[in-house]
Amino acid sequence: GIRLFNKIADFRAWRRQLMLDQKTLGYVPTMGALHQGHLSLVSSAKEKCDHVALTIFVNPAQFAPTEDLATYPRTLQDDLNKLAALGTNVASAVLVPQVQEMYPSGIELDVSKQRGTFVEVKGLSHQLEGVTRPHFFRGVATVVAKFLNIIQPEEVFFGQKDVQQCAVISNMIRDLHFPIKMNICPTTRELDGLAMSSRNTYLTADQRKHAIVLYKALTTVEQLYRQGERDAKKLIDVATDLIDQERLKVQSEGSDWELKLDYFSINAPGDLAPIVDTIQHGAIVSTAVFVGKTRLIDNLLIDTQ
Ligand code: PAJ
Repeated sequence: GIRLFNKIADFRAWRRQLMLDQKTLGYVPTMGALHQGHLSLVSSAKEKCDHVALTIFVNPAQFAPTEDLATYPRTLQDDLNKLAALGTNVASAVLVPQVQEMYPSGIELDVSKQRGTFVEVKGLSHQLEGVTRPHFFRGVATVVAKFLNIIQPEEVFFGQKDVQQCAVISNMIRDLHFPIKMNICPTTRELDGLAMSSRNTYLTADQRKHAIVLYKALTTVEQLYRQGERDAKKLIDVATDLIDQERLKVQSEGSDWELKLDYFSINAPGDLAPIVDTIQHGAIVSTAVFVGKTRLIDNLLIDTQ
């Protein structure tokens, strides 16, 4: 069965034995409320490593005081059942640590009151998701660095769904010389294309219908690109119009919630620099949309690698 650990020292004892047995470990960091996207990372990890460990930890350092830390879904028993249903010997261990043990100096949501050690990946953390969430990637990089030190995996597995997070963590692994291989796995989607996300559980049935607009806008851009359109500004305009049409549709249906574009952006794969003129060496096309109070993100890579 799956080993469940709450104490870091207990996990470390298990990990030490794997090393003595010369077994490799793949690691999947999560905040729980597991869905098919998370499980696909676990399966990929199992294909490449002898054992797979997950962490389930709703990381306070990546939530702003105004965000959903208190209400973020916490479904540990369901999560463990889903992992068990993958089959015996797929997930080997799950670490669910306490906030106090992860943050020995304490953790404040108000950045100006924080104490302790933080990791910043400069140059990749301020654009896109970082515009409205300026301390988000500092929180992510910090907790992932802590976990890499605790788990000591040979390989780590992240989802393309959070494309900027992948860039931040790849660079952190390189800059801080973690001896760990980064793997980026494709985005798992619902049948209609909506990217799976723990936050999709916040959507009402009506909002869920309209949430498809992110994927619609992204695939429209992808299709125009395939037909030869290389002008980033034109592509962004088309996508922005399409999302605005959806906003008006929601409004005209007399809904008590709003659909609102946060950003639609085309960026260079390496440094995430915005592309505003001609796309030359592939691009990341990404968007964030408020569907009611729920902020959804999604992206597609065009012509990369
Ligand atoms: P969480 O949102 O739980 O996601 C955990 C991992 O699952 C991330 O690597 C994410 O990109 C991946 N993932 C989420 N939805 C996916 C989908 N539809 N298809 C494929 N992969 C998907 O991302 C975090 O947690 C946190 O920031 C974390 C890295 C755990 C640090 O706290």
